[in-house]
Amino acid sequence: MTPTHDVVLVGGGGAGLRAAIAIAESNPRLSIAVVSKVYPMRSHTVSAEGGSAGAIAPDDSIDEHAYDTVSGGDWLSDQNAVEAFVKEGPEELLRLERWGCPWSREPDGRIAVRPFGGMKKKRTWFAADKTGFHMLHTLFQTSLKYTSVVRYDEWFVTKLLVDEGRVQGVVALEMATGKVEAITARAVIVCTGGCGKVFPFTTNANIKNGDGMALAYRAGVPLKDMEFVQYHPTGLPFTGILITEAARAEGGLLINKDGYRYLQDYDLGKPEPTPVLRTMELGPRDRLSQAFMKEVAKGRTVDTPYGPVVYLDLRHLGEKLIITKLPLVRELCLEYENLDPITELIPVRPVVHYMMGGIHTDINGATPLAGLYAAGEVACVSINGANRLGSNSLTELLVFGARAGLAAAEHASTQKDVGPAVAAQAKDEQRRLQDLLGKTGGRERIAVLREEMQKTMEESAGIYRAADSLSRGVAKLRELQERYRNVLIEDRSETFNTERTAALELSFMLDVAESMVNSALRREESRGAHQRTDFPARDDRRFLAHSLTRRGSDGSAQVDYLPVTITRWPPAERVYGR
Ligand code: FUM
Repeated sequence: MTPTHDVVLVGGGGAGLRAAIAIAESNPRLSIAVVSKVYPMRSHTVSAEGGSAGAIAPDDSIDEHAYDTVSGGDWLSDQNAVEAFVKEGPEELLRLERWGCPWSREPDGRIAVRPFGGMKKKRTWFAADKTGFHMLHTLFQTSLKYTSVVRYDEWFVTKLLVDEGRVQGVVALEMATGKVEAITARAVIVCTGGCGKVFPFTTNANIKNGDGMALAYRAGVPLKDMEFVQYHPTGLPFTGILITEAARAEGGLLINKDGYRYLQDYDLGKPEPTPVLRTMELGPRDRLSQAFMKEVAKGRTVDTPYGPVVYLDLRHLGEKLIITKLPLVRELCLEYENLDPITELIPVRPVVHYMMGGIHTDINGATPLAGLYAAGEVACVSINGANRLGSNSLTELLVFGARAGLAAAEHASTQKDVGPAVAAQAKDEQRRLQDLLGKTGGRERIAVLREEMQKTMEESAGIYRAADSLSRGVAKLRELQERYRNVLIEDRSETFNTERTAALELSFMLDVAESMVNSALRREESRGAHQRTDFPARDDRRFLAHSLTRRGSDGSAQVDYLPVTITRWPPAERVYGR
């Protein structure tokens, strides 16, 4: 019998679990399915390190948090969403405290907050440098209280079921057995996170393939602002493992091959005896990553087998601070670089970290498709605009996970049962997945196609882009889509067939990649993380607007625009270091 629930959540990370709890609390009669391709505690939220933003310090205010977010996003954020976010953020963080999240504290017992890039007040709550782990654990253990939450761990959603103009469930593959099943529902919330693996060098785990973005895109829902890809300035070379911004918040310095604090050359302020908020190492991520590229061009970086690097210097912070406040940074350096940051410099370079864009939603997570919601990194609400400030994303997944949960619960309570057509759609999808296993004559290796896609993305849509590189990217991705039709799958087994899963993930990534290069090509300006060498200035007259990318009937990406919502902060110059 087809499993049926009121709400299906796709993804069991921070946003998904927060949404599940919101639904369970608001209406205990609703049955909730959490369908996740990994066990929830292995979701990528677990790897978030530095913290979660919320104005709580006596000298801070939600208005200042809102302004920093809007200016950090280069005025592309929807300000009504930002206003909701900064107001509800601290309430969510306190709620997590009551659910057991072990926030780090000041000696007098108050919640400790640390500075973070682009924020002019200390407002980032943290749990040492393992904040994501503790938040996810808190959400997971809280979700266990609710018997209405049913988990489908290691089930991979491959399709949304849509009929009568509304979403009516999903089709999912049980990875342990190869069973493909429809799971029907009156509402679906997509919470699958980002898509960093579209690029070759990323902080993201291997599971971050843009699955949810592609599911929605294929169901006719537009993706918003997909040209805005965030590079985090400090990843370890080779692995791309994140060295948290908290290391700079605690006083870490970035130096080039000459030992020079090069950020002072890029309008980010001058060196001060103690760290000054919104300057130098605490500038926003887009500006820091762009400054790195300029240092490369000047020949002031260090060449390594894994590309050019600069150094992060923590040595002056001392053993005690590093061990108490940055234990994971030290562990990662010891394990993956064979160096101890107490006494040695850490080589770092910018690394793809986060997607500002995602599934187009309103401030309650609703997409234009009735019954379909999205929250967390997979969604674009949009609070992050053209450049997210570090530590806003964990708070975002709480605020908008809860909002999407409440909205989906209300919607589900008013809907009738699923229609008859979804059974036929589910059968078609079962057949498609079965055909992939029986497929003969495939020539194209998954790994080859994936590597070509990643290289294309880095070369065409990296930190700096231009019409010629992006046009080459558009053409190459079309070619890869064509070649994907001949993908080779040699493993015929039903049990944990990771080759078939990888093929499905690659197909999702190709769609997402196409939406990125096409929207980047159309945006003829530079704003936040989208820097066009052929259009170096921000152009509010033409592009104070969100891009919306829809999938055309031939599979190609079609881009149009939607105005940005401005409430209280008219567009102005972004100023740091002063
Ligand atoms: O550097 C970091 O800890 C990352 C935080 C974030 O992306 O919000």
